[in-house]
Amino acid sequence: MNESKVPYITLSDGGMIPQLGFGTWTLRDDAEDAVDTAIKAGYRLIDTASMYGNEEAVGRGIRKSGIDRESLFVTTKITPSEMSQRPQSQWIEESLERLDIGWIDLMLFHWPAANEKYHRETWDVLEEYAAKGLIKHLGVSNFNPRQIDDLLIHGHLPPVVNQIELYPYRQQIGNVKADGERNIAIECYSPLAEGRAAKDPVLEEIAKAHGKTAAQVTLRWEIQKGFITIPKGRNPAHIQSNMDIWDFALTEKEMETIASLNEYTSTDPEDSPW
Ligand SMILES: NC(=O)c1ccc[n+]([C@@H]2O[C@H](COP(=O)([O-])OP(=O)(O)OC[C@H]3O[C@@H](n4cnc5c(N)ncnc54)[C@H](OP(=O)(O)O)[C@@H]3O)[C@@H](O)[C@H]2O)c1
Repeated sequence: MNESKVPYITLSDGGMIPQLGFGTWTLRDDAEDAVDTAIKAGYRLIDTASMYGNEEAVGRGIRKSGIDRESLFVTTKITPSEMSQRPQSQWIEESLERLDIGWIDLMLFHWPAANEKYHRETWDVLEEYAAKGLIKHLGVSNFNPRQIDDLLIHGHLPPVVNQIELYPYRQQIGNVKADGERNIAIECYSPLAEGRAAKDPVLEEIAKAHGKTAAQVTLRWEIQKGFITIPKGRNPAHIQSNMDIWDFALTEKEMETIASLNEYTSTDPEDSPW
């Protein structure tokens, strides 16, 4: 197994998370080969969700790669709509069973529930699984600071990550600031704006100066901002090239030019789509 070049950042609970990971949304059975390819290319964080319907295939890909489980950081997510239908513990057990990799490194609350009582109830159950060692870290996705504060007050374990939609066109300035003040790491989802950033002329121009692609420049910008980023690729060439971002650095001016692509300039976190 190749050594990975991916740097780690420290979470507020003392854990370590790789700064670049592999997203698997829309992959189904093909997640098996994609995850195997990603791990062999050096990815050490894999992002899935019960809602993606691919946890079994992701688990198969992890086992196929032959990687030592301790070297990998696997995230899955619990879905709010699941909570009103059956006990949360059942959904967690099913994710563990489908993945079949021993434990989950990070369990995210996928998005805020319509009834916020489910946040606190679910957190209690997640903490029980953390106490048993079956979940290593807890986090949220698409949460605003008010929803995060409610959990910080209620829970014993803090959310360590907020996974939010973030890329040069959507910079979530208010959420980034608020999460930073709460020592919560930001994880960018749809970091390539679902592929749009890979064809952006401004990003392509910057990329040319470094002998890189616009996609690589976008991911590098997110890394230099201090975020975790999880691009998805079905195409093996994309999986490989998204990992090849450690041999160049964007200048301060280039960072600013990319920041100027922001299309959502409100700094109010409540203005985010969630
Ligand atoms: N928490 C949430 O609510 C939430 C929501 C959305 C996503 N996510 C997570 O975030 C991950 C990433 O987001 P995403 O899948 O929405 O979109 P994304 O990673 O921003 O973009 C994926 C698209 O970009 C293309 N692409 C990837 N690398 C490329 C490259 N080097 N050059 C050109 N095109 C490239 C992919 O093509 P190919 O597939 O053909 O390679 C695919 O069409 C998801 O997979 C999921 O794990 C979480």
